[in-house]
Amino acid sequence: MSTVLITGASGGIGYELAKLFARDRHNLILVARSADKLAQVAHELQAHSITVKTVALDLTQPPAAKFLFDQLQRENIAVDILINNAGFGTYGEFAQMPEEEILGQINLNVTALTELTRLFLPAMVQRRSGRIMNVASTAGFQPGPYLAVYYATKAYVISFSEAIANELRHSSVTVTCFCPGATHTGFAARSGTEKSRIFRILGGMSAERVALDGYRAVMEGRTLAISGLHNWAIAQSTRFAPRKMVTAVSRWVAEKTES
Ligand SMILES: NC(=O)c1ccc[n+]([C@@H]2O[C@H](COP(=O)([O-])OP(=O)(O)OC[C@H]3O[C@@H](n4cnc5c(N)ncnc54)[C@H](OP(=O)(O)O)[C@@H]3O)[C@@H](O)[C@H]2O)c1
Repeated sequence: MSTVLITGASGGIGYELAKLFARDRHNLILVARSADKLAQVAHELQAHSITVKTVALDLTQPPAAKFLFDQLQRENIAVDILINNAGFGTYGEFAQMPEEEILGQINLNVTALTELTRLFLPAMVQRRSGRIMNVASTAGFQPGPYLAVYYATKAYVISFSEAIANELRHSSVTVTCFCPGATHTGFAARSGTEKSRIFRILGGMSAERVALDGYRAVMEGRTLAISGLHNWAIAQSTRFAPRKMVTAVSRWVAEKTES
């Protein structure tokens, strides 16, 4: 039985991914800040006769990734599949954005993801087996006015993941970058995007559907996977259009509307 570590598993896409891995009888290590929610998820998923370990941790606090790695080392737990899913965005003009929101997004979406990858990857390479899935977003394919830091962190995740997937092309370890588009989870409320056109016009996919796409992508070892045909088409459309136009459209989509 393999062991899967999922960050951000107390809700949303991470929770749905945890359910899919549990159904296929993988042992789980679930990480998020809310100890109570994690305990509830663990209780639910243990019904699949698997081991579920929970670690309540704020991954925006820099030693957190190392702390998690060291704890698992001490307990002799090897991670076969790492899912870097935890992430958040904050809506607003950059000039007015509180510093803690800016650094929090960078620390979680970029630093923790990179550190966890660096910490767990060498053992996978040595064992000649392992999978990593980094959850980016379709936000990573263009600049995002009003969500400038969030979009930039996701552009990093795409670039970083594709690069290391290429470095590992001759190994049996796979790195998958998974890009959901708008998805109905706690993300919109946390980011303040509920009234933006991102959700009002583009609608959103269910977390269950998105997680299933992610699950398939990581198990197939795909390098880049975009959830939903419409999201794939939107991501492709940004490739050949003038960048100023792409940014202007991205701003319009992010703007809030009353209806
Ligand atoms: N929903 C969307 O529209 C959408 C679209 C594209 C990409 N994504 C990406 O998908 C991933 C999952 O998002 P989601 O939509 O499922 O969001 P969500 O419902 O808000 O879930 C986020 C998860 O991350 C955990 N988390 C948040 N801050 C954390 C921290 N500092 N340390 C540890 N864990 C933390 C949360 O648990 P606690 O609060 O308990 O810590 C929760 O389990 C993110 O990377 C997001 O950027 C989402």
